[in-house]
Amino acid sequence: MKITVSRKFPDHYNGDLLVCCIKQPTTDQKLECAHLEAKKHILAAYELGDFEGKEGQSFLCYPVSNDGSKKPKRILAVGLGKDDLTQENFRLCGGEIIQAAKKTKSRELVVILPDLDVPHSDMCQALAEGTLLGNYTFEKYKTKKSEDEEIETTIDKIIIVCSNDKQARKGIKIGVVNSEAVICARDMANEPGSSMTAKHFADFSLELSKKYGLKRKVFSKAQLQKMNMGGILAVNRASSEPPQLIVLEYRTGNKVPTLLLVGKGLTFDSGGISLKPGAGMQDMKYDMCGGAAVMAAMQAIGAEKPLNVDIVAIVPATDNMPGPAALKPGDVICQYNGKTVEVVNTDAEGRLILADALSYGVQKFKPDAVIDLATLTGAVIVGLGHHYSGLISNDDNLADKVLQAGKKCGEPVWQLPLNKDYSKQIKSKIADLKNVGDKGAGTITAAAFLQEFIGDAKWAHIDIAGTAWDFTEKSYIPKGPSGVGVRLLLDTIRNW
Ligand code: BES
Ligand code: ZN
Ligand code: ZN
Repeated sequence: MKITVSRKFPDHYNGDLLVCCIKQPTTDQKLECAHLEAKKHILAAYELGDFEGKEGQSFLCYPVSNDGSKKPKRILAVGLGKDDLTQENFRLCGGEIIQAAKKTKSRELVVILPDLDVPHSDMCQALAEGTLLGNYTFEKYKTKKSEDEEIETTIDKIIIVCSNDKQARKGIKIGVVNSEAVICARDMANEPGSSMTAKHFADFSLELSKKYGLKRKVFSKAQLQKMNMGGILAVNRASSEPPQLIVLEYRTGNKVPTLLLVGKGLTFDSGGISLKPGAGMQDMKYDMCGGAAVMAAMQAIGAEKPLNVDIVAIVPATDNMPGPAALKPGDVICQYNGKTVEVVNTDAEGRLILADALSYGVQKFKPDAVIDLATLTGAVIVGLGHHYSGLISNDDNLADKVLQAGKKCGEPVWQLPLNKDYSKQIKSKIADLKNVGDKGAGTITAAAFLQEFIGDAKWAHIDIAGTAWDFTEKSYIPKGPSGVGVRLLLDTIRNW
């Protein structure tokens, strides 16, 4: 699907689908629509009270030409909402457009944006994201399309009509880079656990390093053993797949701050000996979504080459399996930074692999800030449901950057507290730490555990267990993996 820009107003457009994005007028405003034929129909619907331009509202009509004049085959009006429109309004609108285009089997669309007080680049970026992400499907493993899908045609082209074509193109470029990265993360997450193994993470990092000139280092099991990465090795003990620790570096060559990104790449979480219940266990193939988001963000960074930050990405990758060699509840392990951990529950494995990756990352790269992304706790779903990712940070400034990015990109995050009272909950009687906190605040005690491995670095931890899949239903977010975290990281980086 290609998205292009045109300054030429489509008065005589007679193609598949003409789309008008309509802002809901306030009581003292009139409904605005620059296309005369479309305006006629939209005003009629507005006056009947059938269409007000509210967010998520849309209607389709079929103009008839009695005099031989050229008319579009279909007109779609999509409501943007009222008052202070943000990029999210345009993303949602883009999703609505795609759903309607699919239903009507339209191949080519012309979209007219209203003249608003929103930068054209922002509008076009968000519209591109809404359409590209709304169009996402994962059909790799379907040998035959369903009857419905059999007749479905693909959307070839979207032409956005915009008076400021330079700004529009700039926005679309960002929107396309963002969407391609999100799609890459969704694709990785959709892969079954037996296909998306640690080795696949390593292979993908090789592709990225070749394509974008990123420095790459992948530590093998033998190397991890030499380095005393006790957390990754412990979680991997019963696996038939060796673990991998993947490091990618993007360098500007300038004297700029270094940002360290760490993502949980747990390619299947059975719980280990503390086995999870069978129902829903298949979803634990998504336990690598933090790692996928970090790798996908590196793809976008490689393509965009920002000048304001150096970025190091680390993904510890392994599955978590039961078996005769498995880590046992009660075992004591030693993490990369020398701290010992009593493993009370082998299902609290994410923090063990992240602990090694974080302590290695801060020691080796001395970053100015660290952000980690992980499907870490079921508790975050209890607290925030599927609408917000959880944020825990030791630095207000960094937390604020992430919170602002979350608002802008439509991936909201909600900050939870962290203090020494929570840290007390993870003290062990026989080791330095235990991997599960005493009763309550599971998301925060998991973060308190990670905090033991970041030294005095500025750090933000984002728990995406509730949002990486089953995220709030939106027109541009399908069921299944959402790709959450990718755009959150990219927006945080762009506004660094
Ligand atoms: N991968 C899970 C967290 C998770 C749960 C993600 C549900 C998405 C949906 C993590 O490894 C885990 O199992 N955590 C345990 C920790 C507990 C044993 C302290 C949990 O949250 O139940
Ligand atoms: Zn687990
Ligand atoms: Zn897990």
